[in-house]
Amino acid sequence: MNSKYFLFLIITVIAGNLNITAQTREFRPGEVWRDTHGDTINAHGGGILYINNNYYWFGEKRNRHGSEGVNVYSSKDLYNWKYEGVALGQSEDTLSDIRKGCVMERPKVIYNKLTKKYVMWFHLELKGKGYSAARAAVAVSDKITGPYQFISSFRPNGNMSRDMTLFADDDGAAYQVYSSRENYDLRITKLTDDYLAATSKDTMLFSKHREAPALFKYQNKYYLITSGCTGWAPNKADLHVATSLLGPWQPVDGNPMEGPDADSTFGSQSAYIQPVAGKKGNFIFIADKWNPKDLRDSRYVWLPVQLKNNELKIEWLRSWSLDFWDTNK
Ligand code: DGJ
Repeated sequence: MNSKYFLFLIITVIAGNLNITAQTREFRPGEVWRDTHGDTINAHGGGILYINNNYYWFGEKRNRHGSEGVNVYSSKDLYNWKYEGVALGQSEDTLSDIRKGCVMERPKVIYNKLTKKYVMWFHLELKGKGYSAARAAVAVSDKITGPYQFISSFRPNGNMSRDMTLFADDDGAAYQVYSSRENYDLRITKLTDDYLAATSKDTMLFSKHREAPALFKYQNKYYLITSGCTGWAPNKADLHVATSLLGPWQPVDGNPMEGPDADSTFGSQSAYIQPVAGKKGNFIFIADKWNPKDLRDSRYVWLPVQLKNNELKIEWLRSWSLDFWDTNK
């Protein structure tokens, strides 16, 4: 063996043992995405919270077909993610709503300034009951990465609650947007001041059999992307806009997605829309490319939201980076 090859071999073995992953500077939608330890990121149907100069990505921890709780990752640059562990696991207590075998989906975390607590909401299905429980669930922590303490699960104002997201508005009020009445209705409920429960301010956004709500606000306008309801199979996205969260919500004609496979949202389903910190008008569309044969192996589709003259489009890109908006004005 020549000495150069020997050196290469030694370095490869050391890097492998240390689990060093090269830093990345681009997003590659739909491709395997590894954390800084070299493991595939396991954070599906998730959401991101930016706080103290760090992004925290919360998502479903999946095994092949089931659910194992909520994972959390941290990042300073949105490209490279460090695994911070399980923020909320499933309980060994057979009387707990979140006992092993339950289904925990679409977790979102927001920070409550009044209580100084991090509050997580997610969609909960009780063990062995399929998707019939249709509950929202709440957990809380003093530390962003957890461990979160499970508080309760319920149907907001008695309404079924499946796919959901949270939205904290500029005035500190927070809302849960949720698919209700067997997913036929998309509803919104204002949260209590401590964010731990739903208030009776609860209204229907529209009744169009939509799920997977992803929401953002820009220049006093709210943008809401949803998917149709076809299980794990991808379908066409839809855009609604409003000047008030409680509505009325106006449908926007056409497909907000552009490019090959736009009609299947590029084979994915909306999960969240994340503002880029310090960059007004730069938002990232975050979606899941589900693999129902092995949910853990589902991929992520992150794409830049393009806003021009009040119009929104999301174009397919094989790879891109955060200077996208500067170079595509
Ligand atoms: C579609 C939802 O958006 C997902 O979160 C998940 O609940 C699947 N349905 C289950 O089929």
